Amino acid sequence: MEAGESVELEAWLEARESFEPPESFVEQANVSDPGIYEEFEEDWPDCWERAAELLEWDRPWEGVLDTSTAPRYKWFTGGRLNAAYNCVDRHVEAGRKNHAALRWIGKRGETETYTYGDLERETEAFAAALRGLGVGEDDVVTLYLPMIPELPIAMLACARIGAPHSVVFAGFSASALETRMERAGAEYLVTCDGYYRRGDALNHKGKADRAVRRIDRDIETVVVDRLGGGLPHSLGENQHDYDGLIERNRGRTVEPVARDAEDMLFLMYTSGTTGQPKGVKHTTAGYLSYAAWTSHAVLDVKPDDTYWCSADIGWITGHSYIVYGPLALGTTTVMYEGTPDYPDKDRMWEIVENYEVDQLYTAPTAIRAFMKWGSQYPEEHDLSSLRLLGTVGEPINPKAWKWYYKHIGGEECPIVDTWWQTETGGMMITTLPGVATMKPGAAGPPLPGVDAQVVDEAGEEVAPGEAGYVTVNKPWPGMLRTLYNNDERFLSEYWEAYSDPDADEWVYFPEDGAKIDEDGYITILGRVDDVINVSGHRLGTMEIESAVVGVEGVAEAAAVGGDHEMKGEAVYAYVILEDGYEESGEMEQSIIEGVEEAIGPIARPEEVIFTPELPKTRSGKIMRRLLEDIANEEDLGNTSTLRNPEVVDDIQNKL
Ligand code: WT7
Repeated sequence: MEAGESVELEAWLEARESFEPPESFVEQANVSDPGIYEEFEEDWPDCWERAAELLEWDRPWEGVLDTSTAPRYKWFTGGRLNAAYNCVDRHVEAGRKNHAALRWIGKRGETETYTYGDLERETEAFAAALRGLGVGEDDVVTLYLPMIPELPIAMLACARIGAPHSVVFAGFSASALETRMERAGAEYLVTCDGYYRRGDALNHKGKADRAVRRIDRDIETVVVDRLGGGLPHSLGENQHDYDGLIERNRGRTVEPVARDAEDMLFLMYTSGTTGQPKGVKHTTAGYLSYAAWTSHAVLDVKPDDTYWCSADIGWITGHSYIVYGPLALGTTTVMYEGTPDYPDKDRMWEIVENYEVDQLYTAPTAIRAFMKWGSQYPEEHDLSSLRLLGTVGEPINPKAWKWYYKHIGGEECPIVDTWWQTETGGMMITTLPGVATMKPGAAGPPLPGVDAQVVDEAGEEVAPGEAGYVTVNKPWPGMLRTLYNNDERFLSEYWEAYSDPDADEWVYFPEDGAKIDEDGYITILGRVDDVINVSGHRLGTMEIESAVVGVEGVAEAAAVGGDHEMKGEAVYAYVILEDGYEESGEMEQSIIEGVEEAIGPIARPEEVIFTPELPKTRSGKIMRRLLEDIANEEDLGNTSTLRNPEVVDDIQNKL
């Protein structure tokens, strides 16, 4: 292409506000009939049987939806099924034993392929091993593993025997692991010796051991030898070698346990406004059918595809769209342990080319990095295998959307900008790629059968273009059922704001701001609670603040999210020191280390700002919004209602 042409194309792309899905895509799409929206509406809630029918049941459901104990909804009542059977065994039985299920790519370029047959053997052996250690139905097993094949294998092994797993992101600290194990009452842990980061071997078992030591009960621990002796470790009491267990249990039969539709499949901890992390409970039937349905309808996954979601399985995206959704549909799912820039910045495109990836599902933070690195990296590779692109985790701005569309999708792939949350289990607001016009920057309309709207404080729908809050007026199969061991908080966090319990009207509040346009397309504006979204990962301000206050010499702290070019948001920590302590580089360092120790490097403050005071309302509440505006160097408006308006100048001068 001539330089002039490329400039013209750029300008044309920039001016465009909407894009139609390519004809070639529509022709082959799993869902291409626009009538589906109306069909789902008319047939609600029975429309969701379509999702349930993607699974194999030991006993069919009797009722689709039970609202009698709302908002504790029950889906597919009376049905029984096993999630691991649905993700593995049934594909083997269908003659696809030798079909690749999992293609793993390690940090050092190692690769492994597990066929459905392999996956069945491994999960069955590990399921037998877990049973041998005493794991029974409904016992929570904590999985603290990096992106290695043993993680999905352990998840499926748990599912096979009806033991809910609770995966804790490997980048979390010992103390974050401890809290999550304590809150889940977990007595079993699967972890590993270590893993590589930028060429260095990290001691992961050390973190796991520290957490276990602080827990006042016996924890049976399984240790995967990831480094093959690269980091010598020894096994203590109640600690078992993964490979040894597998060898001893190979060939044992473990029948998949037929679980009740509503039985817990897993727990996933996430952050909220206040207090401790929340244990989001997902169920066997509702969650799995929803993950499978959205993988089918939105990601257009077909059994013969090679599908790649670049998230970490330590978060919900990896649960739903690396493991459960794709495997339920019998496809080949790619699992990549490494980072996008190692050994070079074309690593992702090399993988797409080598594996002939059909769908790529990634995050805006990654797309912003690709943009910054430049289009020469994708241009070095043949990306023509790609059929669909997706994004998740935070708003994507139109510029990044268009870059992705042009340089990765070659203007031939629809993009799905999927809004959802840990709590929703799967996608809620996004275009159907084979049906709808795409508008860069807007996630799209709610999916068929999903009743989401944008409302004002009073719950009235806002006019097009005005800012409001997302609410969901009808239940959906993938929804969380409660917060583990904290049903009260489940009610107060998600249902109190907009429901009318007297009228038995239940409205789910996801705590996101949004606006809607004339065509019903929703643009997500971001969290309205005190949650910071760093590179698409949700961090609670309270947790960060208590970590900072835990550092010797710190009297008070406020953590807020400031805009960040790459991460979307970054942590800004405003800190008041105790008398007798001076602000210094060392103090800053110990605050940063304190946060890393308490939560993990992901929560590391980008800036530590020492201040003699924090801006407070007359009633003494810290004005977080104001601190955010200060971090973002925005116009602060009227600050005279503060109890201490003079502090604003002081802080601004520090930045
Ligand atoms: C929060 C949920 C869903 C898996 C990843 C994060 C934000 C998510 C989008 C999107 C704008 C988005 C929301 C949401 N978010 N997807 N497509 N556009 N914002 O899961 O940790 O539970 O975080 O991520 O603010 O509430 P999570």
